[in-house]
Amino acid sequence: MNVLEAIEGRISTRAYLDKPVADETVRRILDVARWSPSGVNTQPWKVAVVKGEALARLSQALLARQAEGARPAPDYQYYPGEWVAPYKERRFQCGMDLYKALGIGREDREKRLEAALNNYRFFGAPVSLFFFMDKSLGQGSWLDMGMFIQSVMLAAREFGLGSCPQASTADYPDLVREATGMSDDQLLLCGLALGYPDPEHPVNRYRTRRENVGNFTVWVE
Ligand SMILES: Cc1cc2nc3c(=O)[nH]c(=O)nc-3n(C[C@H](O)[C@H](O)[C@H](O)COP(=O)(O)O)c2cc1C
Repeated sequence: MNVLEAIEGRISTRAYLDKPVADETVRRILDVARWSPSGVNTQPWKVAVVKGEALARLSQALLARQAEGARPAPDYQYYPGEWVAPYKERRFQCGMDLYKALGIGREDREKRLEAALNNYRFFGAPVSLFFFMDKSLGQGSWLDMGMFIQSVMLAAREFGLGSCPQASTADYPDLVREATGMSDDQLLLCGLALGYPDPEHPVNRYRTRRENVGNFTVWVE
């Protein structure tokens, strides 16, 4: 697959086939992604590959914690406390398009909650990767982590795999650290559901929108 196709064709996959991903494939994806750049070659990434019984147990633990009414307590604040234009509108649009693809009406709060909870089931993916970095590192390492995670998602495409980055599965980082044996000095950035996309599922058939280049670029001569 060429690089442009890999980038343009990547979507967040939110429905997977019941088909395992070979360990060797995951290893190869990580083997490629390790060539991502990082400031002074820090290579801040730490990855936990969770699958099988361990993934099922983690899913149960996340759902149970949510059912207790526990508020998410992620290691960092991904989203702003207050949304302003144009991000507020984009966020709204993103949600509306997703619910439309799932056939969920605006007022159907129950189905919306169920769709949100599907995050804690990793959307049925057989594997979830979790990305950590040492808490002692600086802000620049967050850039490195983003590049690494994108490399993982693109490399996965070469094997016909879909993925969905999930900040939601980092809602209760203590559960993920416990499940993966990561120590408290490792900050959890996000999870990544990984598996073979279900081509029939409507949620995998919609595409999010993007601004045109002219709307986010200035040319200076
Ligand atoms: C770091 C990160 C965390 C995300 N967390 C979630 C999540 O918890 N649940 C979800 O359904 N999508 C999540 N997404 C997917 C975004 O909603 C998605 O990337 C965006 O809407 C653009 O759509 P696309 O990935 O299909 O191009 C996340 C994306 C990123 C980059």
